[in-house]
Amino acid sequence: MSKIHGWVATAADQPLTLTTIDAGELGDEEVEVTVENCGICHSDLSMIRNEWRNASYPFIPGHEVIGTVSALGAHAKGLHLGQHVGVGWTAESCMHCQACLSGNQNLCAAAVPTILQHNGGFADKMRAHWAWTIPLPEGIDRASAGPLLCAGMTVFKPFLAYHILPTARVGVVGIGGLGHLALKFAAAWGCEVTAFTSNPAKADEARGFGAHHVVASRDAGALQAIAGSLDLLLVTVNATMNWNALLGTLAKQGRMHVVGVVPEPIPVPAITLISGQREVSGSPTGSPVDIARMLAFAARHDIRPQVEMFPMAKVNEALQHLAAGKARYRIVLEA
Ligand SMILES: NC(=O)c1ccc[n+]([C@@H]2O[C@H](COP(=O)([O-])OP(=O)(O)OC[C@H]3O[C@@H](n4cnc5c(N)ncnc54)[C@H](OP(=O)(O)O)[C@@H]3O)[C@@H](O)[C@H]2O)c1
Ligand SMILES: [Zn+2]
Ligand SMILES: [Zn+2]
Repeated sequence: MSKIHGWVATAADQPLTLTTIDAGELGDEEVEVTVENCGICHSDLSMIRNEWRNASYPFIPGHEVIGTVSALGAHAKGLHLGQHVGVGWTAESCMHCQACLSGNQNLCAAAVPTILQHNGGFADKMRAHWAWTIPLPEGIDRASAGPLLCAGMTVFKPFLAYHILPTARVGVVGIGGLGHLALKFAAAWGCEVTAFTSNPAKADEARGFGAHHVVASRDAGALQAIAGSLDLLLVTVNATMNWNALLGTLAKQGRMHVVGVVPEPIPVPAITLISGQREVSGSPTGSPVDIARMLAFAARHDIRPQVEMFPMAKVNEALQHLAAGKARYRIVLEA
């Protein structure tokens, strides 16, 4: 039996409340992580507000966890007490389905998201399956690394999945938590990088993150001016956009890859796909091996999220700061 002190979401749009919960016995394959800090992803906000209609209250949000291993289940493998680890969007997967056995554990139909019928990292401790408790490589800055676990993994995945070449021209739509990391990863990958933002005040910082060009994401004329130029357009916004104009920026054989949870269906004209053999795709985070590769790449290239630190006791203010679009560029809560 183990007590967890965490910030609990009890109903949509209620402030989180500090509560002590009884987490029960640690499962044989589970790991207990003592939380050092935890990033706030927009998905936490969407789940707290039940925007996706699948939230299961009460739950503790937080799925960009940095911490140390403080207890190991009897069959937990590959980790030791005191080890520095991270946990992202997924806390468990079944480990025996075709997705899991083929290395696509993030696609497991039985996967348990860290904040869905499971408690996350806005707490002193949290738990995850050993395979989803990812050792941090040497050289990672633990104070700022949390956002790599969800935001970083999510935007890094298409570079792995689609074998993006360093000669590619890559656009990133929305320069928030995910988007600013996408700029950094794309630049370190060697690509020519274009940032698309609705906020002109972000232009200089976007260049600092590695963008070679900055384009107004809601300006049809500006999008038209770069029509037919991009090999990969990574969409990280959670808003309805001028999809026709954005699709128009794709080069022949270009791909629009959507990771932002856009609220309405995206209209895709068949002729746009057919005429240039273009593709539209999406993906959820990454597998444990993807996360380890992403962390190693981030450590090698010194890719650090740009974070604003809040004490965990100010989690409700931090959530309001994110909701107001003021986070620059990711909030991290210190336990
Ligand atoms: N696929 C996955 O596995 C996965 C993983 C994590 C998160 N997500 C989702 O990805 C999305 C982004 O998450 P995040 O944490 O990066 O959020 P965020 O920090 O709030 O950033 C979102 C960005 O989208 C842009 N944006 C927001 N509203 C807009 C509007 N009305 N018009 C134009 N641009 C707008 C803004 O960028 P500018 O100011 O530059 O315009 C904003 O900074 C969320 O839907 C989240 O749930 C998906
Ligand atoms: Zn997330
Ligand atoms: Zn599975």
